[in-house]
Amino acid sequence: MVPPPPPAPPEVISRIKELREQLHYHNYRYYVLDNPVISDAEYDRLLQELEKLEEKYPELVTPDSPTQRVGAAPLEKFESLRHRQPMLSLENAFSEAEAREFDERLKRFLRTTEDFHYVVEPKMDGCAVELVYERGRFTVGSTRGDGIRGENVTQNLKTIHTIPLQMLGKEAPVPELLEVRGEVYMDLGEFEKLNREREGRGEAAFANPRNAAAGSLRQLDPAITAARPLKIYCYGVGEVKGASFKTHWDILENLKKWGFRVNPLIETCRGIDAAIAYHHRIEHQRHGLPYEIDGVVIKVDSLALQERLGTKARSPRWALAYKFAATQETTRVLDIAVNVGRTGAVTPMAVMEPVEVGGVTVSRATLHNEDEVARKDVRVGDTVLIQRAGDVIPEVVKVIIEERPPGAAPFQMPQNCPVCDTPLVRPAGEKVTRCPNPDCFGASTRGIMHFASKAGMDIDGLGEKIILQLVNAGLVKDVSDLYHLTEGDLVPLERFAEKSAQNIINAIQGSKNPPFWRLINALGIRFVGEATAQLLAQHFQTLEGLMAAGEEDLLQVEGVGPQVAGSIREYFDNPRNRELITKLKEAGVKEQPPEARAAGPLAGKTFVFTGGLAHFSREEAKALVTARGGKVSSSVSAKTDYVVAGADPGSKYAKARELGVTILTEAEFEKLVR
Ligand code: IVH
Repeated sequence: MVPPPPPAPPEVISRIKELREQLHYHNYRYYVLDNPVISDAEYDRLLQELEKLEEKYPELVTPDSPTQRVGAAPLEKFESLRHRQPMLSLENAFSEAEAREFDERLKRFLRTTEDFHYVVEPKMDGCAVELVYERGRFTVGSTRGDGIRGENVTQNLKTIHTIPLQMLGKEAPVPELLEVRGEVYMDLGEFEKLNREREGRGEAAFANPRNAAAGSLRQLDPAITAARPLKIYCYGVGEVKGASFKTHWDILENLKKWGFRVNPLIETCRGIDAAIAYHHRIEHQRHGLPYEIDGVVIKVDSLALQERLGTKARSPRWALAYKFAATQETTRVLDIAVNVGRTGAVTPMAVMEPVEVGGVTVSRATLHNEDEVARKDVRVGDTVLIQRAGDVIPEVVKVIIEERPPGAAPFQMPQNCPVCDTPLVRPAGEKVTRCPNPDCFGASTRGIMHFASKAGMDIDGLGEKIILQLVNAGLVKDVSDLYHLTEGDLVPLERFAEKSAQNIINAIQGSKNPPFWRLINALGIRFVGEATAQLLAQHFQTLEGLMAAGEEDLLQVEGVGPQVAGSIREYFDNPRNRELITKLKEAGVKEQPPEARAAGPLAGKTFVFTGGLAHFSREEAKALVTARGGKVSSSVSAKTDYVVAGADPGSKYAKARELGVTILTEAEFEKLVR
């Protein structure tokens, strides 16, 4: 029998408490206020100290510890939960007149002529959630569902850093029970980045940030949610015990004091005119905001008045969603053009009569691929309903079939590339039609743009316009030509001053030694996006190693399946690509290895992982071990050299202790492999 571990001494218990309080506070400063007061390194030190103590005294680990954000095991399905109080929806208004009607209706109901104090808020376009706090601790969180019952997504919500695991209690006492309501959302920039990555991996893109947020929140594996850049804005409460408020504004002020993130654009105002003015102001600001909103919410501030007004079947009488002008419009299709992308993918695009959608004039909408055009049966001459989702290119929702002009012919994909006239190909089972000509101007221009982009060689200042000029002037045929450009080549081009020519040449020359993963990503291999590039870099360490890897070797990399492996092999087997790589090397392009390489420093060592890691995915962690010659096993035995215990470690942890296997924290593991 192994004796039970000694109980934790009181000074350890109080240090753990102190560390947690500090970490909760600094998390709040960093994520909620966006105003940290300590460096990242200091934060990491505090977190590591706590991790060490919790590892030594696992019985002291609590679910609200800052170490517990990621790490719960995947679920089989979500549990359904009944909300203590229904999560209501809002009545909509689409015009000033309807907003005024709302105000008058309230006055009639309350038999008053006095103007109301309103709280006016941006209406976030995300996914509504409820967070339950018991004595200040986040215990359960759920989606809105049908308003009566939602899904228990606690473990996913915990991965969102702007959701406090523990309420702050310094400025206002923590109530016994608090249900906080808010909207989980994704910033537009992050949404677009996520979609680019998904497309790079051959996965379907999310239609809009709302779907991306909802989809991310409803992942059974919290590690996936953790990797998605979700945020929250809180805008109300459900049941509360142990605190009382007089106004809605008072609720929001208290939420802020307790560490919740509340939209700074929320204001109070008096009378419906002021609320309407707020609507117009926010509508103007709308496209400059980093997130999507679809209107403003007008709420009666006084809780006493809210109580008197009460609720209707599904929405409270005291609140109104005053929506912005539709982001859907109808217009006519003038032509269906086809675009040639970086990988040679040919995308049909509807060219339309310009129309204003949500404040922006649009004249093109993507039709994605041949099957999509056929499914929606879009024809030249058709009137179509289009919509803008976020700041992405608008898409055709449907054809208004009643308005189809006689004789409109179904769309046919061109046989030949519209740019270089090479016959197009569409492999069996694929949705995408491609131009197979690697010299195709359309594909090569976009390929060069991708090569120069931030997640590629990161060549500052080398944007689309300049690349087009360089290609048009015949100066750049493939990306290796960039490295032979001189100032003298650029200055004669339109709009090039000497200074900017020099800056670009310097940026190109300065880009020659990127981290290995960025070089892999820059090559633009089909199905290899940023994340896969990073895994490949960790695993193979050098370009030579990657180029020499057979499909079997590639499949050893966690996260690389047959499709990706096949595509990588196909890329490197193509003599043109090999030649390109030789030319890049000759021009001085050389990757930086992921880290200093010793010859298999972990050779002969076997690792087992348990619990969730905060800084790596399991795949990445495994790749780090195997890249250094180590082995990863799924079960602990006497032969195991190290057990890496992340948050919420499972039975393997106990087994390791029993067998006396060395247990590493994530921080120690990181040190070992870095
Ligand atoms: S208040 C009873 N405030 O809109 C009050 N809702 O149509 C109900 N929403 O499900 C919610 N921003 O997802 C409120 N500032 C805001 C909001 C907001 C977005 C969403 C929420 C709700 C839906 C109601």
